[in-house]
Amino acid sequence: MIIVCPHCKKKHDIDANRIPANVAMARCKGCGNQFALQEAIEKPAKPVAGGLARRARIIGVTLSKGGVGKTTTAVNLATGLALAGFEVLLIDTDTQGQASFCLGVHPKGGLTELVTEELSADEAVVKARERLDLLAGGKSLAGLKRIIDRKDFGGELTLAETIRPLEERYDYIIVDTSPGWDPLTINVLFLVREVLVPVSLEVMSVQGLVEFLKSLASIQKYRKELELKYILPTFRDRRVKNADVILDKLHEVYGGMVCEPVRYNVRLAEAPALGQTIYEFAPGSNGAQDYRELVRKVAGNPKLFR
Ligand SMILES: Nc1ncnc2c1ncn2[C@@H]1O[C@H](COP(=O)(O)OP(=O)(O)OP(=O)(O)O)[C@@H](O)[C@H]1O
Ligand SMILES: [Mg+2]
Repeated sequence: MIIVCPHCKKKHDIDANRIPANVAMARCKGCGNQFALQEAIEKPAKPVAGGLARRARIIGVTLSKGGVGKTTTAVNLATGLALAGFEVLLIDTDTQGQASFCLGVHPKGGLTELVTEELSADEAVVKARERLDLLAGGKSLAGLKRIIDRKDFGGELTLAETIRPLEERYDYIIVDTSPGWDPLTINVLFLVREVLVPVSLEVMSVQGLVEFLKSLASIQKYRKELELKYILPTFRDRRVKNADVILDKLHEVYGGMVCEPVRYNVRLAEAPALGQTIYEFAPGSNGAQDYRELVRKVAGNPKLFR
């Protein structure tokens, strides 16, 4: 990553892996002044030029099957993009509300209150980290599902209509989804333009992927811009022989959509208990390395964090 000294403007090319998690301040080797590290990370050039409002890339992290790493991926992709210098909004559309838990924040409201207008956008969206905002999920989303169900028509656009005004504030909007297939999942697929599917490397998940892609196709009939963009193999464990066979099959069928797998890494399972992302909890772990690789793939920039 590039760190720009706010005093002398000297650029330092730093390997993010070498910065300990608890370091907040840095000293410029050029002018000797101290500065806050987070503030000095160089922001990548905005994708939109010519004074036009920016249009966030909106990515849904979704698969009907439970426990495949959706929340872990959404949280660590969103935080990784923010660490790389992008402005990011993470939206949790799951009643389990685990995105807030993973980030160690406790907002008084979130997505439901924004839709019902109990809270304004400035109240519902909370700052979770530098450049990372959160629109929290949780139990109240059950009420939102009822609101969607009661609408005579256009219910599937409820989320899209609520989120569109926020789009120009961000480079990326990452949406975590619940397992299963319900009115909120459908709403997410009418909001996002790209889909990232985490698939744990086991037969049942691949079966889940095939079923999910049929459901996705039924939405794509109405929304041509909705694109299956990334398939992320998760829980890779080289000791499990069958996993390699499944990975080969994924490459054969889905080609370039298949990302570098995220390895099984116990650090990823431990980090949420402390409300920390993998980059804070264990920056040198396989989990952190694998999610940095995903950030590079999604951002299309192999130099990030190098
Ligand atoms: N690569 C990994 N290695 C080890 N543990 C992981 C890994 N990825 C996720 N986990 C852990 O596995 C569990 C399930 O992951 P996660 O909650 O991200 O899945 P999910 O798809 O969001 O689940 P749900 O469908 O219930 O929302 C969590 O305890 C998480 O910490
Ligand atoms: Mg989840």
